[in-house]
Amino acid sequence: MSELIPVLSEQELREIDAEITHVPYRAAVAIDALKIVQAHRGWVSDESLQAIARHLEMSAEELDGIATFYNLIFRRPVGDNVILLCNSVTCWIKGCDSLQQRISEQLGIGLGETTPDNRYTLLPVTCLGACDKAPVMMVGEELHEDVTEQSLPTLFGERGE
Ligand code: FES
Repeated sequence: MSELIPVLSEQELREIDAEITHVPYRAAVAIDALKIVQAHRGWVSDESLQAIARHLEMSAEELDGIATFYNLIFRRPVGDNVILLCNSVTCWIKGCDSLQQRISEQLGIGLGETTPDNRYTLLPVTCLGACDKAPVMMVGEELHEDVTEQSLPTLFGERGE
């Protein structure tokens, strides 16, 4: 009985191989490869991870360690927009807990959850490097600084239309 081998798409392989041309060894593009596959699939499943690892000639365990360390790689399905709420010390001091409560009330989801319409996933994240503008969060690719409870409805203002 033959084992099913997960296959990366030709486009994904092309993009990963383009990155490989810039580095001395294939595993050096591990994060780029994870980002490429995530850009195409929304997240990185175990099957995708194994396929990437095989293509980069590294172990799945080694690649998983990198994917887990890098908190912008999603190893579980996420919604169309991922909300990354910083909960490191400066943002915590500046009230990220109450922001999280308000977001949860507004969207009806807790940390680690996705709205039923699949539009938003709420995840905690460690320091986003903008501590002087705390509290900070990202919605998709966009960084939001000095977030207040009052400014939150605007960030998700398109909901309920
Ligand atoms: S602690 Fe939140 S951005 Fe640094």
